[in-house]
Amino acid sequence: MNVFMTGASGWIGSAVVPELRAAGHTVRALARSTASADALRLAGVEPVDGDLDRPEVLAAEAGRADAVIHLANKHDWSNPAESNRAERAAVDAFVRALEGTGKPFLLASGTAIPIGDVLTEEDRNPAAGPDAPRGGTEALAMEYAGRGVRSVALRFAPNVHGAGGDHGFLAQLVRIARERGASGYVGDGANRWTAVNRLDAGALVALALAGAPAGSAVHAVAETLTSRQIADAIGAALGVPPVSVAPDQVGEHFGWLGAIFAMDLPASAELTRQRLGWVPTRATLAEDLAAGHYT
Ligand SMILES: NC(=O)c1ccc[n+]([C@@H]2O[C@H](COP(=O)([O-])OP(=O)(O)OC[C@H]3O[C@@H](n4cnc5c(N)ncnc54)[C@H](OP(=O)(O)O)[C@@H]3O)[C@@H](O)[C@H]2O)c1
Repeated sequence: MNVFMTGASGWIGSAVVPELRAAGHTVRALARSTASADALRLAGVEPVDGDLDRPEVLAAEAGRADAVIHLANKHDWSNPAESNRAERAAVDAFVRALEGTGKPFLLASGTAIPIGDVLTEEDRNPAAGPDAPRGGTEALAMEYAGRGVRSVALRFAPNVHGAGGDHGFLAQLVRIARERGASGYVGDGANRWTAVNRLDAGALVALALAGAPAGSAVHAVAETLTSRQIADAIGAALGVPPVSVAPDQVGEHFGWLGAIFAMDLPASAELTRQRLGWVPTRATLAEDLAAGHYT
């Protein structure tokens, strides 16, 4: 297939590209800078000059591709409304261009969907509408599954970790633990988070492109850890003690990450494994920490 990607130069995208190429696909991808274009060329990808804020480029590329994988996100944590607006506009451009074609449209989402229970692939994401987290784009894409688009939600665990990782929530937690000289967990540490190695996530995206049905969610979740287990692993890697942080102190201790780290976000990938034959084999979060990849 001729695949068009956004975010191909990113942490997850750069693990997806080799999997797609190994499966025989050709990849064109959005590049917003010369540095990103050069990195893409080195990875065997044809760069397409553009930006998330140029929907005409996204629509034109969707028209000429056999499939679209959308992973880019502005990730402007100081202005999440702008990230969400851009994400909504980009997905809107893609689904309109793909309507009625039957082409696959895989878009990034996350398992950080608090439903008060273990999140499964069958659970709908309640975030809908432009003002919702991520601009409600998973729900928007799912709407188009009934309008001739093979939409697939790629729900990544909140910890996508790996070698060379100075990236994401795990890197933030390590930085905070280093600064504080202690590795915090929340209250009794029983709240759950999930994790996946970025190489396993990359392999899963290629499997989802090949076989995930329209309107489905795929869970990139290899393991479930409590906040205590994460804090222990970070503490061991840094040589600092784990400490309990009272729930009303998480903002003070962890900053903006506190509200998220305090959430209980269990998620299962049973259906993903059954449907797509995905078997995560790469290093676990604790193994990556112990190997020194974050320290
Ligand atoms: N990593 C995780 O733990 C995690 C967990 C759950 C969900 N997700 C979601 O998965 C997706 C991929 O995450 P990631 O960790 O791989 O992200 P990342 O490393 O931050 O990469 C972001 C990608 O988006 C591109 N990008 C950013 N702003 C852009 C713009 N204005 N126009 C065009 N491209 C732009 C970047 O291009 P440049 O190379 O030019 O910067 C890069 O390729 C995101 O949607 C993210 O929210 C990630």
